[in-house]
Amino acid sequence: MRIETPSGELGEMSGPRLRERLEALAKISDEAGALTRLYLSPAHRRAADLVRQWMEEAGMTSFIDGAGTVVGRYDGETSQSPTLLLGSHIDTVRDAGCFDGTLGVAIAIAVVSRFAEAGLRLPFALEVLAFGDEEGVRFPTTLTGSRALAGTLGSDALGARDADGITVREALTAFGCDPEDIPPAARDPRRVLGYLELHIEQGTRLEAEDLPVGLVSGISGAMRLSIEVEGTSGHAGTLAMDRRSDALCGAAEMVLAIEARARALGDLLATVGCIRVRSGAVNVVPGAATFTLDVRAFDDELRRSTLEAMLADAGDIAFRRGLRLRHRIEYDQATTRCDTRLLGFFSTAMERRRLRPISLASGAGHDGLAVAALCPIAMLFVRCRGGISHHPAEEVANADMETAAVVLVDAIFEYASEHAANHKIQVNTSL
Ligand code: HGY
Ligand code: MN
Ligand code: MN
Repeated sequence: MRIETPSGELGEMSGPRLRERLEALAKISDEAGALTRLYLSPAHRRAADLVRQWMEEAGMTSFIDGAGTVVGRYDGETSQSPTLLLGSHIDTVRDAGCFDGTLGVAIAIAVVSRFAEAGLRLPFALEVLAFGDEEGVRFPTTLTGSRALAGTLGSDALGARDADGITVREALTAFGCDPEDIPPAARDPRRVLGYLELHIEQGTRLEAEDLPVGLVSGISGAMRLSIEVEGTSGHAGTLAMDRRSDALCGAAEMVLAIEARARALGDLLATVGCIRVRSGAVNVVPGAATFTLDVRAFDDELRRSTLEAMLADAGDIAFRRGLRLRHRIEYDQATTRCDTRLLGFFSTAMERRRLRPISLASGAGHDGLAVAALCPIAMLFVRCRGGISHHPAEEVANADMETAAVVLVDAIFEYASEHAANHKIQVNTSL
């Protein structure tokens, strides 16, 4: 038997209710007039407290772990029950939309509250996770929360510094966490069944197929680097053009060479999102410039070999211009496939709702990349208007949010039924 969810009884899972929550979260920002909520910032703390409140109202116990992840727990039938993880992230990029990450957290909380309302206990506990560092915008690292949960966060990550020189360790303390609590945040893989994440597609495939949701086959791997170009600063009015080692012009030529390689390949994406001149001034020839590089491709070998070629190009340009070059790999994440068994639960749930279960790959990164080191993962994409994301115009239709929530409920039931059959226990899904 499954939760009948005629739209009148969607409760917290109704589109208007979910939108209300997402809009409440979107008001919590570090930047006036735009939605910017970076990892461990004051706005992240306020958002984490609000999400905790929602978790408690939904019938969960909650806490914030050593890496700043908000955790809500809805117990299973017994204290020995294993745990199925749900969730997504509540940090944002700068000037973000209000659905990226938060939609998955809001729907997971609403689904648990629906179970609690029905007094339903499953053969496993449910935990909703609201990760705080999926975007990796404030610090050079990323996925700090999900890597802490998976037990793969290296101690060097806590030394990473933001643009103001604040380390992750210092920011965690200011946030109210104790970095010593990070090792205990790691989960025992024997107690975790899997991780299911709902997320906006951030692409246009579901719109093109006129589908509200789609299965995610896997998440593209990515590498992030910072590249430092050292030249010689000089007087803008007296240093002849042919005697310059201009770090910014060198960096600019490198950026265009990177773009040209990516364009020539087609199935690899390369982005230089930030470039900074050290002590820049209008009348000084730039002596040092640093830029970031984000390289993505599903094919791990192609990504690595192309990056090598891009760095070789940069080295040639530096040599020709009398510049020195240093690069640091800040993040190197292999492509991660979603688990076919977990995807099967989503697919069965979609077919039950007469939805064609199409499968699409994710070019965007997600916490599942890190959680996959702990347990099997699966994602469900939700259609978003025009595929717009990392932009205030991000939009999801109420009906699609409701469909995603209902598919998540059914997928959890599919899992519970199979789990119960395998363990010869009864599934109490009576309402
Ligand atoms: O960068 C990404 O792909 C993700 O949005 N953090
Ligand atoms: Mn996201
Ligand atoms: Mn994002």
